[in-house]
Amino acid sequence: MSKINAAITAVHGKVPEKVLSNFDLEKMVDTNDEWITTRTGIKERRIVSDGETLSDLGAEVVKVICEKRGISPLEIDLIIVGTVTSDHRFPSSSNLICHKSGATNAWGYDVSAACSGFLYSLVTGQQFVESGKYKKVIVIGGDIMSSIINYEDRNTCIIFGDGCGGVLLEPNEEGNGIIDSVLKADGSGKEYLNQKLGGSAHPITKENVGHPDMYVYQEGRSVFKFAVTSMADVSAEIMERNNLTGEDVDWLVPHQANLRIIDATANRMGLTKDKVMINIEKFGNTTAATIPLCLWEWENQLKKGDQIVLAAFGGGFTWGSIFLRWAY
Ligand code: UT7
Repeated sequence: MSKINAAITAVHGKVPEKVLSNFDLEKMVDTNDEWITTRTGIKERRIVSDGETLSDLGAEVVKVICEKRGISPLEIDLIIVGTVTSDHRFPSSSNLICHKSGATNAWGYDVSAACSGFLYSLVTGQQFVESGKYKKVIVIGGDIMSSIINYEDRNTCIIFGDGCGGVLLEPNEEGNGIIDSVLKADGSGKEYLNQKLGGSAHPITKENVGHPDMYVYQEGRSVFKFAVTSMADVSAEIMERNNLTGEDVDWLVPHQANLRIIDATANRMGLTKDKVMINIEKFGNTTAATIPLCLWEWENQLKKGDQIVLAAFGGGFTWGSIFLRWAY
């Protein structure tokens, strides 16, 4: 019997309608379109409207994935959601998405790995499919970053946006699907990128409510240095392990944190720009959603057998790279 790989067999993305442009931000903090564009590559991002939640976006992703694949949500076995902005501390967003999408035979849970959340979740989902027990696993990456951003802090509010994307994983015996992964974690990076208040170490109290520590803190320059080397290193490592040259890789799907980090990773891999998925200008950094949103936008250009490298770096620190062959 040939090896069972977990392969992506459908993909969908969902972003909120509301646009927050660089020009809107110019009116909110001391910044300008030129600075944001040259330093990050971002022109605009999407932000949820009042009442719109991660589980709403995720449920839509699940429903459309099932429609595209011609299956019922009742056939889904498991839904894993990479996020740091779940609707609530509990229940998990996965739990709510199963309910809202009609995937009532599924169970699931959330995975917290910041911008690497989709990669961590995808490798987790892969194990369930490769075990032979699970046939249809949906892996989602989604974040409502606007819920934890301080719109008075120009260091962070210009970067992040809201969005959600997901894929269906199914068994594949043709040699396509997820081939290899390298995932890393280094908790000593905590001080450079975090949300200090609101966890059990520093609960929100009457005294500290409204303090800037309730929101995302990022020391951009330090994170940039780690991100630019780590994302490139891990992508080079996965290429080496699988004997791939730049010519062999059809697509790089990088986390969309900063155009300069993406360019450095592509250069290190020996890839020309036309092989790199980039939509940072429209959506900004949507944390766990960036990679599935790219796959969704490029789905029509992908061909069976295409060799694809996914790469991310995020808070924690967490980072990693996945090599897969497109299955449809
Ligand atoms: O996705 C998770 C992982 N996160 C990342 O990978 C993000 C990594 N970091 C970055 O992408 C970049 O560090 C940022 C885009 C966040 C910042 O870019 P930078 O080139 O590192 O800028 P900087 O923080 O070194 O700031 C340069 C200057 C400073 O002024 P002085 O000290 O040179 O006078 C800042 O005060 O730009 C100033 N500045 C701004 N000016 C206008 C900082 N933020 C802004 C702003 N608008 N929004």
